[in-house]
Amino acid sequence: MKKKLIAGNWKMNGSLAANEALVKGLLAGLDRSACQVALCVPSVYLAQMQALMAGSAIDLGAQDLSQHAAGAFTGEISGAMLNEFGVRYCIVGHSERRQYHFESDALVAAKAQRALAFGITPIVCVGETLAEREAGKTEEVVKRQLAAVIHANGHCISEIVVAYEPVWAIGTGKTASTEQAQQVHAVLRAQLKAASPQADRIHILYGGSMNAANAAELLAQPDIDGGLVGGASLKAPDFLSIIASAL
Ligand code: 13P
Repeated sequence: MKKKLIAGNWKMNGSLAANEALVKGLLAGLDRSACQVALCVPSVYLAQMQALMAGSAIDLGAQDLSQHAAGAFTGEISGAMLNEFGVRYCIVGHSERRQYHFESDALVAAKAQRALAFGITPIVCVGETLAEREAGKTEEVVKRQLAAVIHANGHCISEIVVAYEPVWAIGTGKTASTEQAQQVHAVLRAQLKAASPQADRIHILYGGSMNAANAAELLAQPDIDGGLVGGASLKAPDFLSIIASAL
């Protein structure tokens, strides 16, 4: 069975001093036999994090990348640049980028494709808003979002990570119930299986107010292969506790 993957998404948080304290706390408490662990940090801190985590069991991740390879795209960061800092994972299509930066399904799919081309594993986020859930459209929305990525990436799809993040559960303290989460994960798994015979190796993470108290129950579900953790990844004891429940 594949090891679970617990990825922290720091979002726009951190400072040189705070990052160092957090990573030192994590490294001191991390059991090497633990599940796979990654930290997706603001790009300006990649060099610092690469140095702090060198030789450790924690993989480095970014939070976004450009769909373009290089050129006149002010403010953007390319897959090649991420490669230079040893980045293994890159979040694409986080709901905050879909919402505040108007990222479409097609753009997210192009970003996933670009990440794969650079040997970086995209963590593709999908998830419905509260209005969509209440309208009974959860499955339709997540399947549409994932279908765009499958369509653009063909047989490479088994190289991605998927994160189901119900928008209404992000940063709200409201977690999807284990039944709600497992139900959507099963739908995503079936969609991936229809697209790739190797879909079983794909990690499908849950994200949305995952914390030390609810992680074990969520991670015990058959199709929940890990977590994408926001707020709770900023405190070493909380993040270590989530990691410990993922064994
Ligand atoms: P929270 O864990 O803070 O709800 O954030 C989840 C998330 O958006 C991770 O990408």
